[in-house]
Amino acid sequence: MSPEMNSVPNTIFSPELAARFDKLVTLYPARRSALIPMLLYAQDEVGAVNDAVIAEIAQRIGITELDVRNVISYYSLLHTKPHGKFHVQVCTNISCMLRGGNEMLAHCKEKLGIGNKETTPDGIFSLEEVECIGACCWAPAVQVNYDFHDNLTTEKMDAVFENYRQKAGKS
Ligand code: FES
Repeated sequence: MSPEMNSVPNTIFSPELAARFDKLVTLYPARRSALIPMLLYAQDEVGAVNDAVIAEIAQRIGITELDVRNVISYYSLLHTKPHGKFHVQVCTNISCMLRGGNEMLAHCKEKLGIGNKETTPDGIFSLEEVECIGACCWAPAVQVNYDFHDNLTTEKMDAVFENYRQKAGKS
């Protein structure tokens, strides 16, 4: 694909991100190598890798939408539906399970009033049960967006929720 084919008229992205993508696809010997970073940047801006994001990124790279969807389905960091402002990932893998990970998940469900992969009606929290997040030595562990919380008890988790509620201005 020639460089002049990088731009997409009627892009769904901000002018800044569209310009970044125009450049990004020229940086790799194979345009497809830009796929993961483009999906992550797009997700940060749009809130999810939805149908419109998939369509435009497929067009920009010159692959099919199915190719893009296959990659999205492989990476747990990518999601097709919007998460809450704070995405709470509760590990229930072996170390955390042995130290109360399942009980922590049940507590989070009850506290937030939502189930796994659901979002609170106010959009502040979403909840997801996940595999090991690499904090096994400090189990049970929970990741909220990019922050880790470990050695948790239900009381500590309540304080974590309260802290995020305050950040969202909803306390
Ligand atoms: S098992 Fe929970 S962080 Fe590794």
